[in-house]
Amino acid sequence: MKSLLICLVLLELVWLGNGQSRDHQPLAPAFFVFGDSLVDSGNNNYIPTLARANYFPYGIDFGFPTGRFCNGRTVVDYGATYLGLPLVPPYLSPLSIGQNALRGVNYASAAAGILDETGRHYGARTTFNGQISQFEITIELRLRRFFQNPADLRKYLAKSIIGINIGSNDYINNYLMPERYSTSQTYSGEDYADLLIKTLSAQISRLYNLGARKMVLAGSGPLGCIPSQLSMVTGNNTSGCVTKINNMVSMFNSRLKDLANTLNTTLPGSFFVYQNVFDLFHDMVVNPSRYGKMTSIPIYKGLLLFLYISTEF
Ligand SMILES: *[C@@H]1O[C@H](CO)[C@@H](O)[C@H](O)[C@H]1NC(C)=O
Ligand SMILES: *[C@@H]1O[C@H](CO)[C@@H](O)[C@H](O)[C@H]1NC(C)=O
Ligand SMILES: *[C@@H]1O[C@H](CO)[C@@H](O)[C@H](O)[C@H]1NC(C)=O
Repeated sequence: MKSLLICLVLLELVWLGNGQSRDHQPLAPAFFVFGDSLVDSGNNNYIPTLARANYFPYGIDFGFPTGRFCNGRTVVDYGATYLGLPLVPPYLSPLSIGQNALRGVNYASAAAGILDETGRHYGARTTFNGQISQFEITIELRLRRFFQNPADLRKYLAKSIIGINIGSNDYINNYLMPERYSTSQTYSGEDYADLLIKTLSAQISRLYNLGARKMVLAGSGPLGCIPSQLSMVTGNNTSGCVTKINNMVSMFNSRLKDLANTLNTTLPGSFFVYQNVFDLFHDMVVNPSRYGKMTSIPIYKGLLLFLYISTEF
């Protein structure tokens, strides 16, 4: 279900990437990726979990499943290409060992969330906290040895791009699953968004303390438009999406945007970018014909449903 979402984001990045020559120096020395299934490039293939994408039709445009929850390349693959870097290898894969780590590492893990408990019903997943610990290990055990002195390492980290795409699972695989998680009994929608942002803020500060400076924070997409949520409501709204859930996600997104602004000024030397993923996807759901090959909403939903059923258990 998420696969199609990712691939849609790609379209935009491809457009952004046009005109960028590959022959030039990379725009950044490295790209470090944190997040969930939207950007997992295969980490979950290495851990005992039900949240895996190592089978057909995933990877159909690659020619084989890679662990990406997508038919082809994910948004961060296109991002890496745009930066002039190779595709970022998963932390848990042998591909990220040695010199390769110098160009960046992908820590994203399907089913992961901002909160540690998020996605636990899938089995193992590397939580965002766990991913930050893996980044710390990368710096100490894999990267430090390539630098003459700590100042050079700091400069390299400060110039690197840090992509963070986390939070959707804290809704769809936590708050919106009252039979498995108690958060919706404890927190109102607003309080929950506050909790997520407060937790995320501390996590980002941890990344900053490790040397991260240039961070891209991707907001959540319109989760009220995905089949798993649509299947739980009776009746239908003309927009084809569950408004209540979209409103809930928007509370998170508006706070995330504020957080990007705040940290941008309070953390010296930092540079934050907030990525508005919600409006882009929402427009794709509402106006699919604007996006070329997606000819109609029924086909789009049918595909999502197919992918959803194939990953659900
Ligand atoms: C929901 O939409 C379908 C067509 O998309 C329609 O046939 C059905 O009557 C609608 N249901 C309600 C409760 O509005
Ligand atoms: C349907 O739309 C109405 C008005 O826009 C809204 O109040 C209601 O919550 C929506 N229902 C669902 C299930 O999203
Ligand atoms: C962060 O500050 C820079 C200027 O230093 C600005 O260009 C950028 O838009 C700011 N980002 C956010 C999210 O406010």
